[in-house]
Amino acid sequence: MGLFDGLRRDRNAEQTPAPSTPAAPAEKPADVESSAVSEDLAAMNAKVVEREVKKQEPAEIEPTPVKSYKDKKPVTHVVGTTKIIAIINQKGGVGKSTTAINLSAALGELGKQVLLVDLDPQGNSTSGLGIEKSELPGCIYNVLLEETNIEEIIIPDVCEGLDLAPATINLAGAEVELVSEMARENRLKEAVGSMRGRYDYVFIDCPPSLGLLTVNSLVAADKLIIPIQTEFYALEGVTKLLESMKRVKTRLNPMLDIFGILLTMYDGRTTLSRQVAAEVRNYFGRQVFETIIPRTVKLSEAPSYGIPITQYDPVGKGAIAYKELAKEVVQRG
Ligand SMILES: Nc1ncnc2c1ncn2[C@@H]1O[C@H](COP(=O)(O)OP(=O)(O)OP(=O)(O)O)[C@@H](O)[C@H]1O
Ligand SMILES: [Mg+2]
Repeated sequence: MGLFDGLRRDRNAEQTPAPSTPAAPAEKPADVESSAVSEDLAAMNAKVVEREVKKQEPAEIEPTPVKSYKDKKPVTHVVGTTKIIAIINQKGGVGKSTTAINLSAALGELGKQVLLVDLDPQGNSTSGLGIEKSELPGCIYNVLLEETNIEEIIIPDVCEGLDLAPATINLAGAEVELVSEMARENRLKEAVGSMRGRYDYVFIDCPPSLGLLTVNSLVAADKLIIPIQTEFYALEGVTKLLESMKRVKTRLNPMLDIFGILLTMYDGRTTLSRQVAAEVRNYFGRQVFETIIPRTVKLSEAPSYGIPITQYDPVGKGAIAYKELAKEVVQRG
């Protein structure tokens, strides 16, 4: 008995005409013969189709459950160990969203539980993690202005260890609508504060402005990560940001402090990048992270695939840098 004997037996059985099939005449004209062959083939196909249909009958397709934060197994940490960090710089295009997505994902891969709150109406962190904004029933706007519980809008497990509180274009109205609200600076603090004890890190991806959304993030955060692009005018606006931080610190959030300054889009081949990096280190000293994020096209491509750099180009220099940054963040406590 060979390994394929069973298979051969099945083939022979298929080729044997069924008992009910009438015996073929000894000789047939070519066209009659070919039509008989195609009839036979059709019969065989019919048999196969019948068997396939039968196979599928007993298996009932389970409806895919809708992913909800409430289905997530509760992970509890000691309250107080949750670090709420705003990724902030009112200057546009300095790498806030890129850092929010990739640092969160890298920490998730290190086994940390992370929540990323997208506080920018552009929703770059939301789309960059592969979420179709137009299909969302709610977003952080509903939390800030309609008293929706943040748990209702959190999308769990967008990546390993990473949940997302998404933003849609609705959030664009929040800046104006918040103005006439009571306790308007505290809305995010109340919502995000209720998640303390459930995550190791909560990151807030801020919009490029110093409006009420940014003020909300300054009030809600324990610490700030300030990405600075290693280009001309790198420090432009940083003084104003630090002034806003001081004002919020004295009036609304006394514990607020800088967690780290992050140099981004660094191109070691250019003198300018090196000069700016040196100047920023000179100005901020040890507050600057050792890790520098290099300029690499892979980091700008990853969001269009809806995945973080650690999945898109796991061994490239962008992924390596964000993994290093994640380790440094953990070391800083
Ligand atoms: N290290 C990098 N190398 C190459 N491109 C990068 C890098 N970091 C960010 N980019 C690209 O630069 C652009 C701006 O980055 P990003 O969106 O992260 O900045 P941002 O500060 O969040 O911007 P905004 O202020 O508009 O929210 C994006 O197209 C992004 O893909
Ligand atoms: Mg952004």
